[in-house]
Amino acid sequence: MNRPASSLNNKKFLILGCGFSGSFFAKKIRQLGCTALTSSRSEKKDSDSFVFNSENGLVPNRKIFDGVTHILSCIPPDKNGNDPVLMSLKDKLKSLSLEWIGYLSTTGVYGNTKGDWVSEIDEPNPFQKRSHKRLNCEKEWIKSGLPVQIYRLPGIYGPGRSPFEAIKNKKIRVISKKDQVFSRIHVADITNAIIYLLQNKDYLKFYQIINISDDEPCSQLEVIRYCYDLLGLTMPKPILFEDAKDELSPIAQSFWMENRRVSNKLLCETLGYKLIYKNYKIGLKNCYLNS
Ligand SMILES: NC(=O)c1ccc[n+]([C@@H]2O[C@H](COP(=O)([O-])OP(=O)(O)OC[C@H]3O[C@@H](n4cnc5c(N)ncnc54)[C@H](OP(=O)(O)O)[C@@H]3O)[C@@H](O)[C@H]2O)c1
Repeated sequence: MNRPASSLNNKKFLILGCGFSGSFFAKKIRQLGCTALTSSRSEKKDSDSFVFNSENGLVPNRKIFDGVTHILSCIPPDKNGNDPVLMSLKDKLKSLSLEWIGYLSTTGVYGNTKGDWVSEIDEPNPFQKRSHKRLNCEKEWIKSGLPVQIYRLPGIYGPGRSPFEAIKNKKIRVISKKDQVFSRIHVADITNAIIYLLQNKDYLKFYQIINISDDEPCSQLEVIRYCYDLLGLTMPKPILFEDAKDELSPIAQSFWMENRRVSNKLLCETLGYKLIYKNYKIGLKNCYLNS
């Protein structure tokens, strides 16, 4: 594709919920010449950060919103299932001249496809309670009339958040479950895909919901085995899920109750995004070298 990418230079971004993905995005967008202010629930020393906490009604002051053109929300639903940003800031956002809002959602909204591929045109069929909440938040964002694009993400990994940490901290559980696969995405591809979509916004058809996932869903066992190989260590003998499940936390158990392959065809074929980390092997090598 030989098109001039539209410049994001001088745009002002608010990153609401600057955790793992938000920090990565903020860093990259600043390198492109944008301003990026980031929120967290408690005060930070960093002058580019501000406090936003929907749980105790702490909202950003008016000045934070001056000149804002773009917003990325990385905040999950609150315990009542409401979207923290819409709950606390919807009117404020509606009063701004926003060009774009990105909302990080999850592929959990698709539910359990028993290993089948699932894409954006498939009807969501949430299985977990938290995924019902998430789908409701997506609907609220769409209903808001704000210029939102929703990105559905599978398991996010990257430097500092990968099985290497669990192996090093001896907190790894090597579990095997027949025919079970997970999709995943490297945090750098979340950022790059979103920036690609923004820079090519004028040429690309607008889709309100886009999956960002890599090319190769596979078993967790395969991923962990690869990490042990990179570390030059011997992997412990896998435990069958059935034998391990009673010792897992409810949240960990719930992840094993769903089995799906998330398609990235819309992003990578229709919209032309080229993944940096097409599969877990390339992505984990990056984590290994940066851990
Ligand atoms: N992790 C995954 O594998 C995964 C997979 C698919 C989708 N997702 C979703 O994708 C998004 C980004 O994921 P992530 O792992 O990068 O997130 P993360 O590191 O957990 O960061 C979440 C951010 O949201 C903020 N936050 C949480 N509740 C809030 C509230 N009530 N009011 C204001 N701020 C609040 C947190 O504030 P503090 O900084 O103060 O903690 C944090 O900055 C999330 O919505 C997540 O659920 C995650």
